[in-house]
Amino acid sequence: MSTPAERATAAGLNADLVMLDGSVQATFLIDMLKNVKDLPIRESDILLCTYPKSGTHWTWEILNMIVAGKAEYAKHWQNSAWLEYRTWEELEELASPRILHTHLRPSHLPETVWHKGCKVVYVRRNPKDCVVSSYHQMSKQVWKDNPAGKASYTGTWDDFIDLFLNGCLPPVPYFEHTIEWTNISEAKKDSEICRVHYEDMKQDCVREIRRMADYLGRPLSDKTYYDISEACSFKNLKHANEKLKDQTYHFQWQDGASGYFRKGITGDWKNWFTVAQSERFDTVYKERLNETFPY
Ligand code: A3P
Repeated sequence: MSTPAERATAAGLNADLVMLDGSVQATFLIDMLKNVKDLPIRESDILLCTYPKSGTHWTWEILNMIVAGKAEYAKHWQNSAWLEYRTWEELEELASPRILHTHLRPSHLPETVWHKGCKVVYVRRNPKDCVVSSYHQMSKQVWKDNPAGKASYTGTWDDFIDLFLNGCLPPVPYFEHTIEWTNISEAKKDSEICRVHYEDMKQDCVREIRRMADYLGRPLSDKTYYDISEACSFKNLKHANEKLKDQTYHFQWQDGASGYFRKGITGDWKNWFTVAQSERFDTVYKERLNETFPY
């Protein structure tokens, strides 16, 4: 019987993959992932936790602006503060309060996150839109450990959906990730986390920014909420990342463009899923999570 990593490779995922703690991982990340539990965490750290493609760049920028108290872009791309990707030294150099983002499940985070009472913002997005977004990213992006210059994924769309549903996509299986984050309040009784939906941010970003600012204990004026929402609109944030920011932490993409900012809409999945694929997806989703996605 093949492992999820082997299935991913067979389906067209072009990276050196291994299994670690039930997740498919790129080999080059293994050492960092093994050490992540011991990372020095500060009480003031704010963790932004997402399944990939849920709006991490967007929310990270918003959180930075809330902390700064003004609608000013952070100097670097969000990958400058990626908990499981940056070295300890790089993370240590970040000024407090750090806004660290991660795709890890709660059980894989440093325990100190919970003991020190760090603020945790968890963002969810309709998983069908996440799959479409992921498929586009992986079909274009060239990974660091891929000297052949091939895109990360060269298989079919249909197989990609299956990889997602069967927990074969790096860096984390969707259902396990979602189940753990859904049940976190029970497991970590003293820790309150702020839950945000990408779709709610699309619907009323000012309201969601206010909610996050209140959660962080950093309320701002109505005007500042509005300014942050504007500065972080899809068009403005894409421009800022591609044209204004320092590009040191912008990962390489095959066509040189920034695929991290693709369409920025809800419901693009309807342009990609056939009825049969959508029904297959819904069946597995319902079986695994015992719910239907609210959006
Ligand atoms: P699409 O590929 O559907 O366009 P992440 O930052 O977690 O990698 O998520 C990337 C997704 O968020 C992409 O989705 C991207 O376009 C979208 N996104 C980025 N900034 C956004 C913004 N300001 N408003 C809405 N969506 C945004």
